[in-house]
This record gives sequence, structure tokens and C-alpha cells, in this order.
Amino acid sequence: DFSKGNSLINQYIREVRDVNIQNDRMRFRRNVERIGEILSYEMSKMLDYSSQSVTTPLGEKIVNVPSSDIVLCSILRAGIPLHQGILNYFDGVENAFISAYRYHPDGGDKFEVHVKYLASPSIEGKTLILADPMLATGKTLENVLRALERHGTPKQIHIISIIGAKPGIELTDMIFPKNTYLWIAAVDNALNERGYIVPGLGDAGDLCYG
Ligand code: PRP
Repeated sequence: DFSKGNSLINQYIREVRDVNIQNDRMRFRRNVERIGEILSYEMSKMLDYSSQSVTTPLGEKIVNVPSSDIVLCSILRAGIPLHQGILNYFDGVENAFISAYRYHPDGGDKFEVHVKYLASPSIEGKTLILADPMLATGKTLENVLRALERHGTPKQIHIISIIGAKPGIELTDMIFPKNTYLWIAAVDNALNERGYIVPGLGDAGDLCYG
């Protein structure tokens, strides 16, 4: 939970939550992207590194650079600006996209998560980054994990999210393999009866794209 400490990320989290400025979609998307950039930097400290030499105009220097094979997988729709933020920092990675939506069978509050579309390279032995701004009940990530199984077993998984609710975090802890790390900008305690995070920020997909 990065919102507990003092850092610039709090300013962007405050803005994406603020009902009075959320109608500025461009600002909302850009803030999601900026949070993705900051979390990427924090996450980068957990990757594998190798020494490489670099030639400057005046000599040679050895630098430690990330050497993990990364697949960045985002969950449509709200994952798109977060994906871009992560891609701004990890520019050479492979990319996967998956769609997931809440289906209300009887039109009430109960819902199932349906996955309709998935395009992914092999994730076998690679570092998998899953990007989704909201982690509410955790059902989306559960279905995404299942859908990705046929693409291989990753060496490490990093979940990047903006707001996570306790129930979703607990489910994720239970169902994801041991080598999974959660990078959540802010943690909220509760979900309402429709499975929305309270206070949260609302519906991230709608706020990004209408
Ligand atoms: C939102 C959000 C997550 C999901 C989280 O997507 O972007 O994907 O809900 O909820 P969960 O943890 O309870 O599964 P939504 O279904 O609103 O789709 P959208 O991004 O297309 O608006």
C-alpha cells in the first residue's frame, strides 16, 4: 500500500478518486498511466539483473540492468492506460491482452466474470505482469489466471493495480502461486453489495472511456 507513506503517488491517487475532476477523462487516464509508471519503477527492484558494459565517448562503465523476460498482460478495458504507463518504463517487453467483464445472470447484484478474448505469447518461465487498475472481489484475476494457464507457467507474477480491496487481496493471496507480488497504489477495506470498492474511485473503465 504505497498511499501510506509520503510520496508523489498520493497526489495522483487523490486525483483519480476525486468525483469533482473525474469527468476530465484525459486527466483520469493520464493519472492512471502515471501511477503505472511509479509502480513499475518500484517493481523493477524485484527483477533479475545482469551486468552489462556501456561505452561512453570517454570510456567504459559496467551497469546492472534488468534481465528478466517480461510479458505484460492487461485486462480490458481499464487496463489500457495502466498498460501504457508500464510500457513507458518497460519498453521492450512482450504484450498480452485479455478481456473480462461482469455478467449479471439474473440482472441483480450477483455476477460471474466472463473472459472473451485472449491474445498472449508464451509465458513459460517468464516474468508475468498483470495490469488492472481495480482489484475488487478478485474474480477477474482468478479467471485471468485460469485463462492464461495454457500459455505456460510463469517464473514470477507481479500484479499492478491502483486500488485494491481487502477481499480481493485475500482471494489473490489464496489462489495465486507463491512467487506472486502485489503492487497496489492504495488499499481500501470494503466492497459494497454490487462488488464495488468503497470508497474506491467508481468504475475505472467508464471513467477512462465512457
Ligand atoms: C473492473 C476492473 C477490474 C474488475 C475488478 O472492470 O477494471 O477488471 O472490475 O473487479 P473484481 O476484482 O471484482 O473482478 P469492469 O468489469 O468494470 O470492466 P471495464 O474495465 O471494461 O469497465
